[in-house]
Amino acid sequence: MKGLVLSGGKGTRLYPITFNRAKQLVPVANKPVLFRVIEAIRDAGITEIGIVIGDTGDEIRQAVGNGRRWDVNITYIRQEAPLGLAHAVKISQDFLGDERFVMFLGDNVIQGGISGLIQQFANSDWNSQIVLTEVEEPQHYGVAELDENRRIVRLIEKPRIPPSNLALVGIYMFDHHIFEAVNSIQPSWRGELEITDALQWLIDHGYQVYPYIHRGWWIDTGKPIDMLEANNRVLAELTHKVEGYVDRDSKIDHLVTVERGAEIINSVIRGPAIIGEDCRIVNSYVGPFTSIYHHTIIEDSEIEHSIVLDHSRIIGIPSRIEDSIIGRDVEITYSPIKPKAYKMTLGDHSRVGLL
Ligand code: DAU
Repeated sequence: MKGLVLSGGKGTRLYPITFNRAKQLVPVANKPVLFRVIEAIRDAGITEIGIVIGDTGDEIRQAVGNGRRWDVNITYIRQEAPLGLAHAVKISQDFLGDERFVMFLGDNVIQGGISGLIQQFANSDWNSQIVLTEVEEPQHYGVAELDENRRIVRLIEKPRIPPSNLALVGIYMFDHHIFEAVNSIQPSWRGELEITDALQWLIDHGYQVYPYIHRGWWIDTGKPIDMLEANNRVLAELTHKVEGYVDRDSKIDHLVTVERGAEIINSVIRGPAIIGEDCRIVNSYVGPFTSIYHHTIIEDSEIEHSIVLDHSRIIGIPSRIEDSIIGRDVEITYSPIKPKAYKMTLGDHSRVGLL
């Protein structure tokens, strides 16, 4: 089998964090979501992986390279515009050939990997397998209607009145019949060739599409709140590992990772949390569910339940920072008039002087 990862599109819902960056490269627990996707596919035994890229393609190529780091071969497939998930499949036909493949959306994070799923599909004669999971707001996703025997009756993209709470997770398995489908459907109301419509086409034309109901967590990291949620989930599964320096005046809780070259001075780190390479945490408190990415400095401040990207500086903030996503190379320093709480989603290279 081959793997196809979709990393084109525009991350508008994650603005300003993705104003000038690929949303798939925003780190969750200090690892870009796209790297997690590649690892999940590799762990399922697939070594030929195509990545569909768009406007942010150069940045993705630079970050991912040829795949040697994961012992896989990466082929980049350029999509001129984000014309839909089914359009991405269409332009990948030369790469995929006649092989069965798994398509994984580059901004999805799923618990437990996909090895079991891949094995089930690889050993079956099904034409497609989709992954469904129960969600609270199905209107934001593709939604499936099943009959009493758990066979798919209907699939609809972002319905106003959802027929069930079963959303399509961004992991799909196909054989070559999908190309007939993507070449037959028309663009939807939002101008995209929808993979949901292509799946419906397969069902309508007698092909076998089977659902798998996923019971663990799954997050589409489309919005800042989802990013924090994904960060929580992944951090909760990390183990305690300290590779950096922790001085005697600091207290490091369980479930804390301190990466190489990081320094923790006179500070408290309460897990689950991760402190990235070459960070400096001085006279500060880093609370649960916080990821501090590489080369960031936190001094005389308190932060929890947040993501801070690389090369940022948070210095002398008297109130605790919470529920925030702070971009790259952001500087937050103390200024005298105080609000009691800080809730922020700041883009890369922002400068904030807090009151
Ligand atoms: O996350 C699951 C949902 O993903 C499904 O429930 C929906 O049925 C499916 O249509 C999709 O919906 P989204 O609206 O969330 O898809 P989004 O536009 O965010 O794109 C998903 C990924 O695919 C993202 O990493 C960008 C990439 N992409 C997207 C488009 C439209 C491409 O590479 N090319 C594209 O043309």
